[in-house]
Amino acid sequence: MKLEVFDLSYSYSTTPVLKGISLTAEKMVTAIIGPNGAGKSTLLTCIAGLLRPEGKILLNGTDIRKMDRDDFSKALSYLPQDAPSRAVLTVFEAVLLGRLHSLKWRVGEEDLGIVYRVMGELGIEELASRTLNELSGGQRQMVSIAQALVKEPEILLMDEPTNSLDLQRQLELFELIREISADKQITLVTALHDLNLAARYADHIVVMKEGEVVSSGSPNKVLTCEMIESVYGVHARVSVDEEGIPEILPVCSAGRRKNHK
Ligand SMILES: Nc1ncnc2c1ncn2[C@@H]1O[C@H](COP(=O)(O)OP(=O)(O)OP(=O)(O)O)[C@@H](O)[C@H]1O
Ligand SMILES: [Mg+2]
Repeated sequence: MKLEVFDLSYSYSTTPVLKGISLTAEKMVTAIIGPNGAGKSTLLTCIAGLLRPEGKILLNGTDIRKMDRDDFSKALSYLPQDAPSRAVLTVFEAVLLGRLHSLKWRVGEEDLGIVYRVMGELGIEELASRTLNELSGGQRQMVSIAQALVKEPEILLMDEPTNSLDLQRQLELFELIREISADKQITLVTALHDLNLAARYADHIVVMKEGEVVSSGSPNKVLTCEMIESVYGVHARVSVDEEGIPEILPVCSAGRRKNHK
């Protein structure tokens, strides 16, 4: 499914947070990067239909404001940055809730099959009967990811999905997500802070700063020392590994180096 965002602007009360954002994503992994407060989460929340921005968001050419609510919520899964849950549900029940759009009076074989498959792929099947309040932060994050995936959406929005995951799970998660998105032709848009994860797993990177897109394109095009210095105020070395993937090594904060001169 093709996602197009045209000239999107949004203000919380009177403070403009998104200032004319445009981007296109289709059947691939798009990473949105940028410093804290750049507007990444606000942008994803707008695309998820939870805020009313100015401008247009189209799914396969249709304005999301004109889409049937059921069609829209079936097409799109959104994993927010902080998904606190106080509900006393088991992991299995929480993941099954991701299938809410297709659940009838009885839980069907297909729903159960998908729930068990995704829990297995994410390595959380052993947690199935534990309640959410008995999990670690990273385990709860994996449950939220499972909830988003069992919906089998055409567009998957993830806001810093690797938050609270250990190093191995971060890599496994992105390998799995890449596989699933290629296999099921999912358009994935994810906010990320880790530039090396973005370099390795994104096809397309959108760089945001202060509510604007300041650069976009392939990881090789976007992830340069100049961009990292101007957007993050950090001196970094960027080299290219044997697979042609950029590797970023932050050296020091640009401000700090100036002070030390
Ligand atoms: N509910 C809100 N009410 C008022 N201002 C908000 C609200 N949510 C976010 N903001 C402000 O909007 C700006 C953009 O926030 P946003 O959460 O979109 O940034 P972000 O790029 O996702 O940052 P981070 O990397 O820290 O998650 C920030 O200045 C933030 O303080
Ligand atoms: Mg955010």
